Amino acid sequence: MLIDWKKIGKRIDPSDFFKEKKKIVIEIGFGKGDFLLNYSKIFDDNLIGIEISNYSINNFINKYKFVENIRIIHSEAFFALGHLFKENTVDKIFIIFPDPWSKKKQEKKRFLKKEFFDRASFVLKNEGEIFIITDEKTLSKYIEENVTKNFLKKEPPEIYIELSKNTKYGKKWLNLKKDFFPFYFIKKEGIKKYWEDILTGKKFDHLLLKNFDFHSFKEMVKKINKKDKDKFINFKKIYEAKDEFILEFILKEETILQNIFFKGKILKNKCILKILNKEDVIFTRGFFEILENLSLNLKTYEI
Ligand SMILES: C[S@@+](CC[C@H](N)C(=O)[O-])C[C@H]1O[C@@H](n2cnc3c(N)ncnc32)[C@H](O)[C@@H]1O
Repeated sequence: MLIDWKKIGKRIDPSDFFKEKKKIVIEIGFGKGDFLLNYSKIFDDNLIGIEISNYSINNFINKYKFVENIRIIHSEAFFALGHLFKENTVDKIFIIFPDPWSKKKQEKKRFLKKEFFDRASFVLKNEGEIFIITDEKTLSKYIEENVTKNFLKKEPPEIYIELSKNTKYGKKWLNLKKDFFPFYFIKKEGIKKYWEDILTGKKFDHLLLKNFDFHSFKEMVKKINKKDKDKFINFKKIYEAKDEFILEFILKEETILQNIFFKGKILKNKCILKILNKEDVIFTRGFFEILENLSLNLKTYEI
């Protein structure tokens, strides 16, 4: 029932987690799970719920252990869309009454931010759907303004709206007579260039450094430190032996913290760098940034 993505260590094709091949439908922020359950009674699809809250995850596992076609992922959703799934593997994404975090300073907490549509576009198949429903006018404006051009806006299916009204928050807002703002988008084009450097499915094997000089390499590596608003890259240590060395980096990106170890083998004026803890590494944008820094010259960057 729970997809333990941290143990898998590479991008997943969600279909691999179900017995039968059917449409893959994701709900982000499923809360009590009402939408997932009710949807599964009407549509014969394979469902995946993503939730950040421990409480909701445990509650769902305890209640619905035996439901065949629902899997859940415990993760922050913006991260999950960017890093956990292979490209073009998802048919529909549902977001039912997301936490609005409407204040400017709360924007960081929101997964519905500028890059959300890039990330959704990456995981969705062509003609894939996004359905979002919110009770917050500010959030609805934000969605209108930030949806990318490769999504076509269409009339939301009535059944999706009805299913949404039947969730904990749907019922709550209905009682308070709040307005609902439903959105329905269809993906029209392939992925944006922006994501092409994150090589889906492929695993990084090695980096070949030519004209290698160990002394200047060490000096350069010590300077690999970077801190910006959503990424922290830090060179931690070098362990040296004869013709060999190990580099340790710390990479903090969004909600994930990784220790990345490279093993270097020096062969005359060349050096081959491999990852030591390959099974644990998630190949995020920050990871490729470390590679770029290590290679300096991208022509020496082999995969
Ligand atoms: C207002 S509730 C809606 C729950 C449910 N969809 C419903 O309609 O009853 C929002 C849910 O989104 C989850 N959530 C908020 N931010 C999240 C994030 N960044 N990643 C994953 N889940 C998130 C919360 O834990 C919460 O369960």
